[in-house]
Amino acid sequence: MMRSKILVTREVFDDTLAFLAQSCEVESNQADAAFSPEELARRLAGKDGMVCCLTDAIDAKLLAACPRLKAVANIAVGYNNIDVAACSARGVMVTNTPGVLDDSTADFAWALLLAAARRVAELDATLRAGNWTHWQLKQWMGVDIHGATLGIIGMGRIGQAIARRAAGFDMPVLYCNRKRLDADLEKRLNAAWVSKDELLARADFVVLQLPYSKETHHLIGAAELARMKPTAILVNTARGGVVDDAALIEALGAGRLRAAGLDVYEGEPKLHPGFLKLKNAVLAPHVASSTEATRARMAMTAAKNLVAALAGGTPPNLLNPESRQSSRPR
Ligand code: GLV
Repeated sequence: MMRSKILVTREVFDDTLAFLAQSCEVESNQADAAFSPEELARRLAGKDGMVCCLTDAIDAKLLAACPRLKAVANIAVGYNNIDVAACSARGVMVTNTPGVLDDSTADFAWALLLAAARRVAELDATLRAGNWTHWQLKQWMGVDIHGATLGIIGMGRIGQAIARRAAGFDMPVLYCNRKRLDADLEKRLNAAWVSKDELLARADFVVLQLPYSKETHHLIGAAELARMKPTAILVNTARGGVVDDAALIEALGAGRLRAAGLDVYEGEPKLHPGFLKLKNAVLAPHVASSTEATRARMAMTAAKNLVAALAGGTPPNLLNPESRQSSRPR
């Protein structure tokens, strides 16, 4: 049998490559050089499958240049970098990595929440600059986390993992989600399903953990920020574009919002320069799932999805079963 030819677009772990090499002819990018769209198209032409990352745009133009492609395995749970409808139309299977990163991502949402509330990044920078000269009672006061109300927008697997951690801080949870959770789960999470407006008005901490799409673009803009309490803190571990960054910078700068903890940005890895001037924003470079164990699990999950797809099976995390119905000539 002919071995499938595949492209791995970014550096992965040695055992990910070893697993892929058991059944595929692998072109990898262990030097982690960023491919331009043209170079990606050139390398992918003639390949049967790819392991890619959220930095790779998989769109109709790329697909048109790669007629052999049968499967795209994203190393991420979010897949807004992939035009899934265009893949389905060409009979290209798309997979993601749900489940394996829930707890690590939830841990990091809490790291940002705690850091923003207690000003950890600002304090660290102050001490490194040699600016701690004396102790004062009213110095660098933060805001209490315990007992405050936690609002979660996007109550999927990761949102629920964030909610579970709230019990340790005695925090009631409000949540928005397209679907309401079942009553048992709501009870276990001490969580109430409310409208977005109610959540924004009542929550002391608002955590965003929902997918990015046309529908969720600028879900949090000037009007939504104005609904939040001026003492509230916003955490975004979802995707850039869910928040209108310019509006957030404006609100943080004017003191209309206490602070923010951010892992994702519009146009990342470029940052809106306004963020750099704000002491009340804790900034991280899209790393919420980045622990050694979880990133390894994500890469292996993508590799297993791709191998299953190319073997003619149904990959465990197939996002577009409709791709199997496409009668594209091969
Ligand atoms: C990371 O952002 C992911 O979607 O897994």
